[in-house]
Amino acid sequence: MFKFFVVLLQAEKNKHMNILVTGGAGFIGSHTLIELYKAGHTALVVDNLYNSNREALRRVAELIGIPEVPFVQADIRDRDALEKIFVQNSKIVNGKIVNGFDACIHFAGLKAVGESVAKPLEYYENNMNGSFVLLDVMRWHGCKNIIFSSSATVYGDPAVIPITEDCPKGQCTNPYGQTKSMLEQVMTDLQKADPEWNVVLLRYFNPIGAHASGRIGENPNGIPNNLMPYITQVAVGKRERLGVFGNDYPTPDGTGVRDYIHVVAALQAIERNAGLAIYNIGTGQGYSVLDVVKTFIRVNGVDIPYQIMPRRAGDIATCYCDPAKAAKELGWKAQFGLEEMCRDAWNWQKNNPNGY
Ligand code: NAD
Ligand code: UD1
Repeated sequence: MFKFFVVLLQAEKNKHMNILVTGGAGFIGSHTLIELYKAGHTALVVDNLYNSNREALRRVAELIGIPEVPFVQADIRDRDALEKIFVQNSKIVNGKIVNGFDACIHFAGLKAVGESVAKPLEYYENNMNGSFVLLDVMRWHGCKNIIFSSSATVYGDPAVIPITEDCPKGQCTNPYGQTKSMLEQVMTDLQKADPEWNVVLLRYFNPIGAHASGRIGENPNGIPNNLMPYITQVAVGKRERLGVFGNDYPTPDGTGVRDYIHVVAALQAIERNAGLAIYNIGTGQGYSVLDVVKTFIRVNGVDIPYQIMPRRAGDIATCYCDPAKAAKELGWKAQFGLEEMCRDAWNWQKNNPNGY
């Protein structure tokens, strides 16, 4: 899994990069770190551990085979902390102090859709302010390469299926989605005003799965909001049954269709002086809720009791992408199918019934 990085980074394998990874202790970030190191790069993680655990980074280090992943526990809204990180990681080149990070992969943010509806101020404050402070500190230290973790949610109820990057952004139904959409705009405007910036906006569809070792994986706090962690918690006996949110959508079996993908990220576009680049990160294949449930049962030989429930507010019927742009420009194609995603997600959960 997470082969996207490998493919992208191999193209630049002679150039070592040192990457600032915000939110690197989280689900996508922790897996990304492994691929970064495998490709010969190094990273420093800044994370406030609000939705993650120090243990994830210990296991990442173990999987990479290094004593520890460079880590600073800090909130990206804390300007002094970020300043200190940049100062301490600067280098002296030809007698001049220069910034020590080639790029930032920006994962840090709050991401629970339902919670964002209940706590809009907290979501706007964390996601917007965190990114403002980060971008400003990066700018002043001359680090102007950023990969931002956006979401398919910016398309709202998409105008076309499969969704291409040209598809107009839609009306986001929740504050979480609004922060992604607004931050995309902020970074687009920033790059326009100062073309030294390289901004890659990755619109993730539905990242699921886990590292094949079963040592790291998705570890949501409380009741999972998303489909796969809910399924794995039913499988492990922590939840009684899955609620399938609606079976009357205009889809082949009536349940919601999504584009599930092993988690990914991109650096090559930045190396190519991309300016502003936007990529859909999905497989181009839509699976329904029942497709996922049935595949999980078949591949893993466990039962997943489920019950049809009313639709969830804000859900759409169908959301999958056209991944052609990433394939053409980055030479990337998803390598794993739904079976591997179900296998790896279960391998993680059964080995870690209570998470980290
Ligand atoms: P995650 O919650 O596991 O990771 C996010 C990390 O950011 C956490 O470790 C959290 O502690 C940290 N964080 C949050 N606010 C912070 C702050 N102010 N300062 C420092 N650290 C902070 O989430 P994830 O699934 O790994 O997602 C990573 C990014 O990708 C998020 O921005 C998310 O919105 C985006 N994304 C995720 C998905 C998905 O399905 N997982 C889909 C689309 C987009
Ligand atoms: C959700 C968010 C999206 C965010 C993404 C990653 C919403 C409306 N959208 O996407 O903004 O970027 O997560 O964090 O929340 N389902 C069930 N039962 C469950 C859980 C989910 O039937 O217990 C169904 C949903 O109705 C949907 C599919 O499974 O059809 C996938 O749901 P989920 O994993 O929450 O992802 P999205 O809704 O696509």
